Amino acid sequence: MSNQPLRVALVGPGRIAIAHLEAIAAARDVAVLVAVAGLPTEKDRTEELAERYGAERAVHDTQAIVEATDIDAVVLTVPNHVHASLAMALLESGKHVLVEKPLATTVADTDLMIAASEKAGRVLMAAQCRRFFHGAQLAKQRIGELGGPVSLIHLLGVYAEHAATAWWKSASDVGGLALGLNGPHVFDTMLWLIGAAPVRVYARTRRLRDQWEGEDEAVVIVDFADGSLGTGYLSLNARQPVNDRWITGPRGTMRLTDDRTLLVDGELVAHEAVTPYIDGDVSFDRQFREFADAIVQQRQPQASAREVRPVAAVLEAALRSHRTGLPVDLDLP
Ligand SMILES: NC(=O)c1ccc[n+]([C@@H]2O[C@H](COP(=O)([O-])OP(=O)(O)OC[C@H]3O[C@@H](n4cnc5c(N)ncnc54)[C@H](O)[C@@H]3O)[C@@H](O)[C@H]2O)c1
Repeated sequence: MSNQPLRVALVGPGRIAIAHLEAIAAARDVAVLVAVAGLPTEKDRTEELAERYGAERAVHDTQAIVEATDIDAVVLTVPNHVHASLAMALLESGKHVLVEKPLATTVADTDLMIAASEKAGRVLMAAQCRRFFHGAQLAKQRIGELGGPVSLIHLLGVYAEHAATAWWKSASDVGGLALGLNGPHVFDTMLWLIGAAPVRVYARTRRLRDQWEGEDEAVVIVDFADGSLGTGYLSLNARQPVNDRWITGPRGTMRLTDDRTLLVDGELVAHEAVTPYIDGDVSFDRQFREFADAIVQQRQPQASAREVRPVAAVLEAALRSHRTGLPVDLDLP
């Protein structure tokens, strides 16, 4: 690629758009915001964000972004069920795409997206923002000190008083509920930290409140090929929020809290203050920079679509296990 800044559009001017627009603004040495695009029903919001972040234009027709010839890369912040079709159209028209998590709501769609990116020779990255905190990166570097196999437990509980946006009410649009919204965070970091293939998934779920179709509680146990064991607990009912991972191996214990604070055998080795992610933070900044660098350097990014495919497989297996009551064996390539 030339030394010209990357020309970027954001599609989907909803709740998480701000975090990405802040990240694009923070990378103005490498990227320029060409467009913010939304649906015709949200023109005011799209125009307001385009103006606030200095975009060259506001666009009210997603197809115009697909067809644009002055855009190199797109940050896709649309609802989960829209990711696959829009990402594929963008890839086929030659754009690099950073897709909010999860890449797609099914493994079949994930595979179609990976195939489209490889055919087009374009970067397709999942926005697994929580990997990009310093504490999480340090945990990845140091997990080998614990020896193996490890046992990892991740509690991720938030309190969602109601559906923050309409599509949360539909289990098929989200891919479950707690599993579709926060499962990508729990299982992406679990798979990334353990670094072995998941081989078996067992899930039990509950819906404690009837205001949505999907599960608002889930417990998922994942067996790994190296003998490691991962347990994820997800809740949308936690009036005391929690985001805590305990990782134990034969030679040590790590605790990673809020993706930022890391203790190794009880000793504090990393700490960053917690700020509301929805307004943007360093993890979104580093994530966008990784996307831009991968494009310029013509390499795969961290959290490339191919790398996170097993996360889609675990989530799909968890939903199946919940339906059948049985563990699901994975046979990943
Ligand atoms: N990384 C995180 O921590 C995090 C946090 C929140 C949301 N997310 C993810 O971000 C995505 C968006 O979530 P949100 O909470 O911002 O949802 P939202 O409903 O607030 O925003 C979605 C936006 O996309 C627009 N949209 C819908 N269909 C569209 C289409 N076909 N073309 C163009 N725009 C369209 C909507 O009108 C809305 O502006 C989801 O995939 C979600 O899982 C990630």
